[in-house]
Amino acid sequence: MLALGIEGTAHTVGVGIVDEGCRVLANVYDMVKPEKGGIHPREAANHHAEAVVPLIRKAADVAGVDLAEIDLVAFSQGPGLGPCLRTVATAARALALSLRRPIVGVNHCVAHLEIGRGVTEAKDPVLLYVSGGNTQVIAFARGRYRVFGETLDIGIGNMLDKFARECGLPFPGGPILEKRAQDGSKLLRLPYSVKGMDVAFSGMLTAALALRKHGASIDDLAYSIQEVAFAMLTEVTERAMAHLDNEEVLLGGGVARNARLQEMVGRMAVDRGAQMFVPPGDLCIDNGAMIAWTGLQMHRGGVRMSMAETIVDQRFRTDEVRVTWR
Ligand code: ATP
Ligand code: FE2
Repeated sequence: MLALGIEGTAHTVGVGIVDEGCRVLANVYDMVKPEKGGIHPREAANHHAEAVVPLIRKAADVAGVDLAEIDLVAFSQGPGLGPCLRTVATAARALALSLRRPIVGVNHCVAHLEIGRGVTEAKDPVLLYVSGGNTQVIAFARGRYRVFGETLDIGIGNMLDKFARECGLPFPGGPILEKRAQDGSKLLRLPYSVKGMDVAFSGMLTAALALRKHGASIDDLAYSIQEVAFAMLTEVTERAMAHLDNEEVLLGGGVARNARLQEMVGRMAVDRGAQMFVPPGDLCIDNGAMIAWTGLQMHRGGVRMSMAETIVDQRFRTDEVRVTWR
């Protein structure tokens, strides 16, 4: 069985093709890079509308399959930016109708976790999902993926990107700050905001920008932001693992590519006798392959959707999904 998945919740539109063994046959994408400022939902949607058909063709080429061989069409149903979600859903419906194949809408956050289970040895991990818009600690319990902790304000990636932007660095800021942090050495005082299982980052952003105004170097600030923010994330992840008696931690989302975050979570895992899993970078960021793979499993788990049920949901919660496939 072959599934084609289309991702488009935010600035990335991606198309992936996977088989029933979670072999990724194609995973192509294109990302909006705003010239200045943040992303505008409608501009991103226009970008996705132009890019999606060529990407579908490209994915078929890369996979070496004819679109007629696709058995299932999956798409990101939410959460995300309304105009982007609607654009991608429209493309998915058109493709499913023209190929006469079933269609399934996939929860984006669940897909980050499922692709990690699919391509690593992790079986029932606690997922630390760290991206631009999302920061959540998720695990499977009683038939659903439950959110054990999350950000109370902005996502970790948004915080990194905003800080970088205010410092005149291009988007996305996360990877640039990771490099700059290697030249930083002074640990500056930043708020450590952990509230139970939740975290908050906007206070750190404000404090870092204030320090920058008073002359602190970008390198030292990048270093300090990473040390403090990643320590917060490691703490809540460890607490979830302890409560759940779970010995696997999986990283997902674009920020999971950060080597320092991997080092800190990895050290915590070793200290507890647990194991950390990190999918390849192209499967950490928003991508079509994770949507295809999750859609395929949902289909195998008996999920069927009418066209009317493919309506998008900007605030689609992780724990709204009944997990029938495991
Ligand atoms: P979502 O829709 O799931 O909220 P997203 O649209 O932000 O996610 P992702 O591709 O998962 O998309 O993540 C992008 C984020 O990851 C950006 O904020 C970017 O700065 C950050 N990022 C990417 N690489 C790194 C890195 N090496 N270190 C830190 N942050 C990184
Ligand atoms: Fe994501």
